[in-house]
Amino acid sequence: MTRADPAAATGNVDGVTLRRWTSDDRWAMREMNADPQVMTTIGPVMDDAASDAFIDRIDRSFVDHGFGLWCVDVNGEPAGFCGLMLPWFRDGVEIGWRLRSSMWGRGIATTAARLAADQAFSVSGLGLTELISFTAAINSRSIAVMERLGMERDLGGDFLHPGVPPESPLAPHVLYRLSAARYRDGL
Ligand SMILES: CC(C)(COP(=O)(O)OP(=O)(O)OC[C@H]1O[C@@H](n2cnc3c(N)ncnc32)[C@H](O)[C@@H]1OP(=O)(O)O)[C@@H](O)C(=O)NCCC(=O)NCCS
Repeated sequence: MTRADPAAATGNVDGVTLRRWTSDDRWAMREMNADPQVMTTIGPVMDDAASDAFIDRIDRSFVDHGFGLWCVDVNGEPAGFCGLMLPWFRDGVEIGWRLRSSMWGRGIATTAARLAADQAFSVSGLGLTELISFTAAINSRSIAVMERLGMERDLGGDFLHPGVPPESPLAPHVLYRLSAARYRDGL
């Protein structure tokens, strides 16, 4: 797979940029992943060691695949993550996001998602032809980001997430897709 220059994923839309995580940002990942409001639609809150290990896995993804979950920077402050990953249980390249709850309601996730999609689809970036995204069917905030980005629901793609107990309200998931052609047409 083509390797993306992480620096090329930066942009500047309303003070929002994507950049790699640094050691100075670890507090933000820790705060976000320990916040029950953030984790309600994802799973259990994470302790500091788990959040630090998560950043280490992100760093490995950039080395191994040339993409990963960027730090969403808002005028110098780490707001959360947005970026690309390979799902462990299916094919496709997933676009995803998570923000500190103090950063919600300002359009930051959608702006960051556009920057990540720009990078994914640009021929000078990763040159991908399609992105997928999925979330718990009850996660209306994340679904709204997908729809603002121009993603389309794959109605045949509903599934029970294999990493979630099937009886959990977080198990039923919806699947969205975005082709490079559709994204370019919408610009
Ligand atoms: C999913 C998540 C990132 C969405 O955050 P968000 O703040 O709702 O999304 P955006 O940053 O796109 O902001 C949209 C909101 O900002 C408002 N807004 C304000 N100024 C705006 C602007 N200039 N442009 C766009 N929207 C703006 C919108 O009206 C919208 O408000 P609403 O929620 O009242 O409809 C966030 O809820 C989150 O981190 N959740 C937990 C993690 C998670 O579920 N991740 C996905 C797992 S698959």
